[in-house]
Amino acid sequence: MFGNSKPVVSNQTGIHQDLFRTVQRHLTRTWQAPVAEHTRAAFAEALAWLAERQDAPVILDSGCGTARSSRWLAAQHPGAAVIGIDQSAHRLARGRDAGALPDNLLLLRAECADFWRLAEEGGWRLMAHYLLYPNPWPKAAHLKRRWHGHPVFPSLLNLGGTLEVRSNWPIYLQEMQAALGQAAIPSTLDELPADAGEAVTDFELKYLHSGHALWRLQAQLP
Ligand SMILES: C[S@@+](CC[C@H](N)C(=O)[O-])C[C@H]1O[C@@H](n2cnc3c(N)ncnc32)[C@H](O)[C@@H]1O
Repeated sequence: MFGNSKPVVSNQTGIHQDLFRTVQRHLTRTWQAPVAEHTRAAFAEALAWLAERQDAPVILDSGCGTARSSRWLAAQHPGAAVIGIDQSAHRLARGRDAGALPDNLLLLRAECADFWRLAEEGGWRLMAHYLLYPNPWPKAAHLKRRWHGHPVFPSLLNLGGTLEVRSNWPIYLQEMQAALGQAAIPSTLDELPADAGEAVTDFELKYLHSGHALWRLQAQLP
């Protein structure tokens, strides 16, 4: 199930030369693209689910895949309402097939950038936000697909909470750290100790099996 995976290959050797300019543009403009209908429906479902959980603090697991991490977060934080979001119905179905979901976990098929904007508009303030092994988009031409290079980046910041991003491509996190710095948000970036304990996501498990070094960025969003 967890075959070997190759290290990330990129034509970048360091932070993208257009990162500063790209982030600056996004921090000073509002992104106006329309929101997909299926994500509006997913957001409405999230609101109804949260209404039954009174004031439980919200943890988002964005790009949760098969939701191994969402289940882990729900177990670690029984008083929180954990929402796992992924665009892949197939991965979410595999996650649901792994067993009954805990009462404090909701899994939704949604587009993260749209969901974050709806949450921002709704005034959400998160307890924590996890972006665990986001697609690295390692080709230099794909900078704008990485979350820190995406026009939704200001909305991600406005959701607040403790942000944790993990990757097996350190440049992704170095860029994220630089982009946060542009918004005057300090962060820490460390290598995950190889003996850190259980893998919290399927990709983390696969990377550990393949001997990849793994990296973690943490920040407190204001
Ligand atoms: C590399 S996988 C990591 C999955 C999981 N976090 C893990 O570590 O096992 C990236 C996940 O992000 C999801 N994803 C990528 N872009 C997305 C987007 N814009 N909105 C929602 N999900 C997205 C993909 O479907 C995929 O499941």
